[in-house]
Amino acid sequence: PRNVTKNAQGVLTVAGVEVTKLAEEFGTPAYVVDEDDFRARCREFRDAFEGWKVYYAAKAFLCGAVVRWVDEEGLYLDVCTGGELAAALRAGFPTERIKLHGNNKSVAELTRAIDVGVGRIVIDSYDEIDRLCKVAADRGVRASVLVRVKVGVEAHTHEYIATAHEDQKFGFSLAGGEAADVIARVLDEPALELKGLHSHIGSQIFDTQAFEVAARRVIGLHAEVRAKHGVTLPELCLGGGFGIAYTTKDDPAPPAQLATELAAIVEHECRAFGVQVPTMSIEPGRAIAGPAVFTLYEVGTVKVVELDAGASRTYVAVDGGMSDNIRPALYDADYSCTLASRRSDAPPVLSRVVGKHCEAGDIVVKDEFLPGDVRAGDLLAVPATGAYCRSMASNYNHVPRPPVVAVRDGAARLIVRRETEEDLLRLDVW
Ligand code: LLP
Repeated sequence: PRNVTKNAQGVLTVAGVEVTKLAEEFGTPAYVVDEDDFRARCREFRDAFEGWKVYYAAKAFLCGAVVRWVDEEGLYLDVCTGGELAAALRAGFPTERIKLHGNNKSVAELTRAIDVGVGRIVIDSYDEIDRLCKVAADRGVRASVLVRVKVGVEAHTHEYIATAHEDQKFGFSLAGGEAADVIARVLDEPALELKGLHSHIGSQIFDTQAFEVAARRVIGLHAEVRAKHGVTLPELCLGGGFGIAYTTKDDPAPPAQLATELAAIVEHECRAFGVQVPTMSIEPGRAIAGPAVFTLYEVGTVKVVELDAGASRTYVAVDGGMSDNIRPALYDADYSCTLASRRSDAPPVLSRVVGKHCEAGDIVVKDEFLPGDVRAGDLLAVPATGAYCRSMASNYNHVPRPPVVAVRDGAARLIVRRETEEDLLRLDVW
């Protein structure tokens, strides 16, 4: 996060609060969010993408406080399940600014969305058209929908988080006319009001070129709809997926640059297809939440493992792991980390930070140079854990999920409490 520095004693401070104090008060592991940083990232997207609707993708990191921040900073909200919708509703997010995603929404989810009046529902299957028509007709309302299009782009990212190539579950294929067919059907349904098209090509993407190809194809379809049906769809969403820096190897574009590039692409493609630029939207999750959070761990033990040829590797075990950050195990994701509780002049050694789970793949940071005297009781901070860490956390090995602590202006407050042993056992039927 931005408001993080190390003081003369080598103690990491966030918004003026020392992490040693945070560890004392809230325990470890803990997710620590720099509230001003999170809010500033919301505003940067909002201001850079002037005239566009910016939906925060709740799946990246969601809790009541975050929903309120997103609301206060004037963003829209993208949810993709009934559970995410429930969190948004509980926090009082204005429903007309909510968009509901999901490739397999249930009747219950659609019904709730209609009943509370969410602003947009993104259609992702033929079954959903039938379901939604029935729900909307039963209620006597017209549902405002977007159609999710699979544009056939191979985004350069991990296979599991790429979503626009043909062989995956999301959206209707452009190739072979599936998307065009769905659009014709939706236009024909009195219970549905087609607001526009939607494309999301994947996540942790750095090259704007992938967005360019996606924009060209989806705007091409938009133009086709006008030519064929005489309907000018008012909106177009390009999805999320903007990459962030996890280690120094990554070099993301700031929102202002992204906005300039995407606006130029959209204008160019609209001109080429002879259509007006629709109301545009995006759905960043990671780029807002990711960099604003770090995870604070305490070291429990250090083990030096001899490798071949006289080499060795230092394993630094912390009090969390794959239950609070599954990303290294799931996507081979890289993180960095720093000694956060003291200064050390010991020469750095190549270390692997691991968790406390019963798997060898329970890695937090694969390779990091840490001072050679790191020992039990030290605090380590792993930056950029705001997106898809807490939201994908599990209770593997019956480990309680860590709390989320928000720090702002020299004060820390709990926004999600730590799970207790009681929480872990409460679903068992004894
Ligand atoms: N819009 C849609 C339709 C999405 O499916 C997603 C992410 C987003 C927006 C937000 O993407 P973002 O800006 O956060 O990249 N668990 C994976 C990421 C999965 C992303 C799923 N969809 C990870 O940890 O990398």
